[in-house]
Amino acid sequence: MSSFWSFWSLWITIIALANIFACVWLIRWTEKKRPGEAASHETTGHEWDGLQEYNNPMPRWWLWLFYITIVFGLIYLVLYPGLGGFKGVLGWSQYTAWQEEVDTVEERVAPLFAQYAEMSIPDLAAHDEAMQTGRRLFGNNCAVCHGADGGGRIGFPNIANNDWQWGGEPEQIYKSILDGRAGVMPGMGRALGEQGVTEVSAYVFSLSGRGAPEDLVTRGRERFQALCASCHGSDARGNTAMGAPNLTDGNWTYGGSLEAIRTSVRDGRRGRMPAQKDLLGEDRVHLLAAYVYSLSMDERENAAADNADE
Ligand code: HEC
Ligand code: HEC
Repeated sequence: MSSFWSFWSLWITIIALANIFACVWLIRWTEKKRPGEAASHETTGHEWDGLQEYNNPMPRWWLWLFYITIVFGLIYLVLYPGLGGFKGVLGWSQYTAWQEEVDTVEERVAPLFAQYAEMSIPDLAAHDEAMQTGRRLFGNNCAVCHGADGGGRIGFPNIANNDWQWGGEPEQIYKSILDGRAGVMPGMGRALGEQGVTEVSAYVFSLSGRGAPEDLVTRGRERFQALCASCHGSDARGNTAMGAPNLTDGNWTYGGSLEAIRTSVRDGRRGRMPAQKDLLGEDRVHLLAAYVYSLSMDERENAAADNADE
């Protein structure tokens, strides 16, 4: 906040006040009778095609309106901020007005979120009322990137399935949201060359059960083991510690066409999940983690059932 006595503050104050007093002066000046002027209600002697101009003064009430607006303006500038760095005697500001509203809402909902924060994420995910609030929070804060249903779109991962770049355990989801995530896939075009990109891309393409020329796949597999396995794993199922995605499950963040895979390999990718800690606070993030967890509940249960069968 600049002080009232700083240059720009005084600059604005002087111009604002000078304008107001110039208005007063202008009104008084136009009221004054000037030498040689026709008397009130007399014709000025101007005539156009039979129309004569009379020297009628402004109606009194109109004149008073001008004075009233000027007085109003001055009172306003005393009460509210308007004169440079002067804050107004009421201490009102857009920020305090907004903060008051936020505080009122926060006072009402904070105990509820605090109560939810006591519950474990899986328990909360089964709590209907909490999940309705979670859905609203998700719609306001997350849907722009991840889609209203969490299904994602190109460049923004699907978080409604049970395929996790950074891990699907409750604490991992919570951490993804609280602190954000930044996956770095280095561009490999230089290291691989065009032919190398073609081979390794054909191999990655084939991993999700799609056909690709056998000789390219064979050479691509070797290159993958040398260059990619350190992050994506030798089975290409990914590594949640560094956010390297599973390349075998047919779920793609950047697209699974041969062209999209080639671009990922050649140029690299850098997804960024913004940290929500300072924006939403821990209690809301806890509730959102439960909501995200709930989106993949069916898939989780199926996976658990499959494991039990084995
Ligand atoms: C500006 C866009 C953006 C917004 C807003 C956003 N996200 Fe993300 N989110 C991303 C991106 C991009 C990634 C992938 C990060 C990476 O590539 O490492 C991601 C990753 C995630 C992950 C990890 C997914 C995994 O597979 O491990 C979770 C969980 C998540 N977001 C939840 C949320 C929630 C909940 C919100 C709302 C509070 C949210 N995101 C808001 C862009 C966004
Ligand atoms: C340093 C670790 C690292 C290495 C080495 C690496 N990757 Fe990645 N890769 C990642 C990460 C992390 C991501 C996710 C990027 C993001 O979140 O934006 C990724 C993303 C990808 C994607 C996009 C997946 C999708 O869902 O759209 C493909 C394809 C891919 N990598 C293939 C490869 C291939 C092929 C190689 C070897 C030539 C390779 N990667 C080497 C870390 C790595």
